[in-house]
Amino acid sequence: MSGETNVQEVLAPMRDSRARRPGVAVVTGASSGIGRATVRALASAGMTVLGVARREGALARLVAEARPGGVEAVAADVTSARDRERIVRAVDGRPVAALVHGAGAFPRGLLATMPPAQWESAMRTNVDARLWLTLGLRTPLRGGRVLFVGSDASENCRHGGGAYSVSKAASAMLWRSLALELGDEIDFAIARPGLVETRMLDDSLSAPRDSFAAGEVYAAMHERGETITAETVASFFEWLLLDVPPEEFAAAPWDIREVGHHARWLHGPLFRGR
Ligand SMILES: NC(=O)c1ccc[n+]([C@@H]2O[C@H](COP(=O)([O-])OP(=O)(O)OC[C@H]3O[C@@H](n4cnc5c(N)ncnc54)[C@H](OP(=O)(O)O)[C@@H]3O)[C@@H](O)[C@H]2O)c1
Repeated sequence: MSGETNVQEVLAPMRDSRARRPGVAVVTGASSGIGRATVRALASAGMTVLGVARREGALARLVAEARPGGVEAVAADVTSARDRERIVRAVDGRPVAALVHGAGAFPRGLLATMPPAQWESAMRTNVDARLWLTLGLRTPLRGGRVLFVGSDASENCRHGGGAYSVSKAASAMLWRSLALELGDEIDFAIARPGLVETRMLDDSLSAPRDSFAAGEVYAAMHERGETITAETVASFFEWLLLDVPPEEFAAAPWDIREVGHHARWLHGPLFRGR
């Protein structure tokens, strides 16, 4: 028996232990932050990943740096029905093993003075698009997994973050409602990633404090080193999507900071500053 065969025999059960089914992954919010890191992690794990976002240049870079065929770019605005149809067409009849709802909008400002378009962008991106894209992919998702990127904001009300909090609370209830209605055909999970070092955090730290007092909370956490890298979040998501058994995946909300599951996926410190 050749050495190569021995290696294959050792690797086979490890591959089989991954709760993976054939098919592609669809990740929205793929042009930066958590979504981009998740695309890279899933592609490195061997999946074909359809990365969805509006910025074509950033998507093109993701495609170029991945192994050939590992990442397919879909330049699309998830709030547009026509663009969501293009996402479904890009799946092209393949099964969807995983759908990650990463695209997010965080308008900062007081509800009393916020332009209606900003409120609507939070609702359309963080709630409506997650519903309509899930339903658009319902057939290819049969037997697959949907992961909602959740947030502490769904429970915490912070000055200047009202639109985001309302949308994230609605998104969490959407996760529950879809799991109730479609849970026998698709596994649904929601996961909180903590405070993550992305463009969204940068924008929160630099937003004017008079209309976004919540920025102080994020600045204090940042000072204390309580932020998490997007790559660490992506490792968590990869584990949730590929390794966690189906019943456990969909059983309860996940939080990256709960230490009980760390031994199963985390290598190194969780927080940047510790
Ligand atoms: N950073 C944190 O601390 C934190 C904490 C909890 C939860 N989250 C959640 O994590 C998710 C990812 O955020 P992030 O922190 O990684 O921020 P980010 O780097 O700003 O990424 C946001 C992503 O969403 C995409 N996006 C926004 N609107 C879109 C639209 N209409 N259509 C398609 N794509 C759209 C953006 O791409 P384009 O601009 O190219 O379209 C970008 O790729 C969000 O759902 C956010 O609420 C973040």
